[in-house]
Amino acid sequence: MKVLIVGGGGREHALAWKLSRSPRVKKIFCAPGNAGIAELAECVNINAENVPAILDLARQHKFDLTVVGPEAPLVAGLVDAMEKEGFPVFGPRQRAAEIEGSKVLAKEIMQKYSIPTARHAVFEDAEAAQEYIKKTGAPCVIKADGLAAGKGVIVAEDEQTALSAVHYIMKQRAFGAAGNRVVVEECLRGEEASMLAFTDGENVVPMIPAQDHKQVYDNDCGPNTGGMGAYAPAPVITPELRQEVVDKILIPTVRGLAAEDRPYRGVLYAGLMITDRGPQVLEFNARFGDPEAQPIMMMLQSDLVDVIEALLAGELNKINIGWNDGASVCVVLTSQGYPGEYRKGEIISGLDNLPENVVAFHSGTALKGNRVVTAGGRVIGITARAASIPEAIELAYQGVSKVHFNDMHYRKDIGKKALAR
Ligand code: AMP
Ligand code: GLY
Repeated sequence: MKVLIVGGGGREHALAWKLSRSPRVKKIFCAPGNAGIAELAECVNINAENVPAILDLARQHKFDLTVVGPEAPLVAGLVDAMEKEGFPVFGPRQRAAEIEGSKVLAKEIMQKYSIPTARHAVFEDAEAAQEYIKKTGAPCVIKADGLAAGKGVIVAEDEQTALSAVHYIMKQRAFGAAGNRVVVEECLRGEEASMLAFTDGENVVPMIPAQDHKQVYDNDCGPNTGGMGAYAPAPVITPELRQEVVDKILIPTVRGLAAEDRPYRGVLYAGLMITDRGPQVLEFNARFGDPEAQPIMMMLQSDLVDVIEALLAGELNKINIGWNDGASVCVVLTSQGYPGEYRKGEIISGLDNLPENVVAFHSGTALKGNRVVTAGGRVIGITARAASIPEAIELAYQGVSKVHFNDMHYRKDIGKKALAR
């Protein structure tokens, strides 16, 4: 079959890698892709958010399957548009994807269906939000309602930071219309984990739990990023906790969305804080995580095409989704300065020198002549699979030591929390 992947980051490279290993896949296209994806797929220079152009591409090639990676095209209604023309497509429709596209909606649904989450209040007015913060105090968390490329959440340890965050989002309009409303939320303490599930709207099949590393520096210091590394399975989610997340969070959310006339089909991602009062939802995403997808795809034993096909048929209950033994660890190499300003165009070397069972999933890379160069903040995710987490960490960092570019930065403590368990 002929498959189109929409997106061009590390997650999409991991999806392309996994799909390329399916005996059922003959050819992969990717819009827009990157230098790594180009080794597995024909990259088409169309932005992932350009719904009309992707639709045109689908009309031209009649893909047997389209897999949508990032949130922006989901929230923009790409899946609805493709379905309307009869193209098989994997991802939630617009109304369902709003669980990620609007934090206010996500909180309303969680409240209505008793899904454990932080206490919160919603404001359409900066002064009212600031009054509330002065009354309730810090720490608290300020969230822009809409999509903000992972930057719309500010964890404020003191009142002044919280007040400034409201000003930044609502008055300076740092994220544009995404900041028309803010959520002010109770600050939760604990260890974070990501639980992703495949769902056909009825059946919910959890994947192995993963853990991201959001902050840019070791020991969770510095500003939040899209994710500096990830591993799976994450031992913080014990088998008991995993069942609790399925029963109290994932299933009620899928049922709730259906009851709200937002039937959900695709990957549902619950970002969790494991607190003293149990797992609490920090956010929902309507897609695979990045970088969580990298270790998860390395650990998925089943053919991803079989899983997607069953899901689209509403028959997830009829298949067994298998996972490899052991563990996988991904260390993200970034451009110095990310998540702020950084340079692009640096030559990357050593990528053909990686140990066995290590894959370099490209995020922000491009081809310049025949050289692979940096083209984004997150550049490459060096991802290893081994018999255990300690071995996978060791192997991933062996891989990292082979790769070089000017201004390369990475965290040296990916997986450390798992080792402590
Ligand atoms: P979100 O995009 O909502 O997941 O927020 C991004 C990050 O902000 C999360 O991964 C957490 O590290 C942090 N965060 C979000 N909500 C809370 C909360 N209620 N309490 C503490 N930290 C939070
Ligand atoms: N790694 C977090 C996310 O994909 O949203």
